[in-house]
Amino acid sequence: MEVRKAVVPAAGRGTRFLPITKSQPKEMLPLVDKPIIQYAVEEALAAGLHDLVLVTSQGKQAIEDYFDRSGELENLLQQRGEMKLLKCVCHLSNMVDIVYVRQKQPLGLGHAVLMAEVVVGKEPFGLFLPDDIFVAAHPVISQLLDAYKELGGCILAVQRVQHEETKRYGIITPNKIGDHLYQVMDLVEKPLPEQAPSDLAIVGRYVLQPSIFDALKVTPPGKGQEIQLTDGLRRLLSREKIYAVEFDGTRYDAGTPIEWLKATIALALRHPEVGPEIKSYLRTSMQPELV
Ligand code: UTP
Repeated sequence: MEVRKAVVPAAGRGTRFLPITKSQPKEMLPLVDKPIIQYAVEEALAAGLHDLVLVTSQGKQAIEDYFDRSGELENLLQQRGEMKLLKCVCHLSNMVDIVYVRQKQPLGLGHAVLMAEVVVGKEPFGLFLPDDIFVAAHPVISQLLDAYKELGGCILAVQRVQHEETKRYGIITPNKIGDHLYQVMDLVEKPLPEQAPSDLAIVGRYVLQPSIFDALKVTPPGKGQEIQLTDGLRRLLSREKIYAVEFDGTRYDAGTPIEWLKATIALALRHPEVGPEIKSYLRTSMQPELV
């Protein structure tokens, strides 16, 4: 079945980015000239996933306002003759129609995904964790969709991580079936390095079957007392085949200050307007005599 829907959970607390996330959704932090969440939305649209479901929570109003129309602002820009800015503002609200669902308590990523069931129904869907930013020649969701067309089932994006880092991720037990392609034999959430079945970590892009919802409904809270998507996927293994694609590209976890900074620099260097200037600025500021 064709994948048409995209789910973007944005209801987390963002504690790794405190204190700024006390009053500012981390998904709205800028990366060069766009908020973090816009990169996921644009990736979904570019891959043909036009039905978007955003999972939000208290304090995330700024996300809804951002993708909504603002008649007052549009009038002001029109009056001032700021046509370039007007076009940019209108483009945002015309770009996509989003259905918002609420996660009333941050009970974990698995729980956030479950909140989308009411809109997704019985269709396969793309899942985008917006703070995972990817720089890739072929968008990561498209790499997963390529595998999905061939294999069906569920497809996870995975990345090799340092062995001591396994405790931060869901880790798969892989069975290699192709170039950068694995069948997932088992998965475990945040294993200690000595217990990790591999160094292949699940990262923020997925193609999932709707059967994940039934699996999540019976998944008890796991690590951190949260309902973990990885635990739900583990339950699903008896019903669905799960595959993993070791994606081609670079990932930044923009949910932490240091990785957000690295993502900012990587994206700025590629940006047609600011790229050349930031490149020469970085070159000069890296000269030893100036440091
Ligand atoms: P993270 O693992 O980054 O969690 O979630 P978090 O709560 O946002 O941030 P920290 O760890 O406290 O710093 C990955 C994605 O899942 C969403 C987040 O908004 C983020 O986009 N999420 C997480 C939810 O929507 N609900 C949750 O209960 C947890």
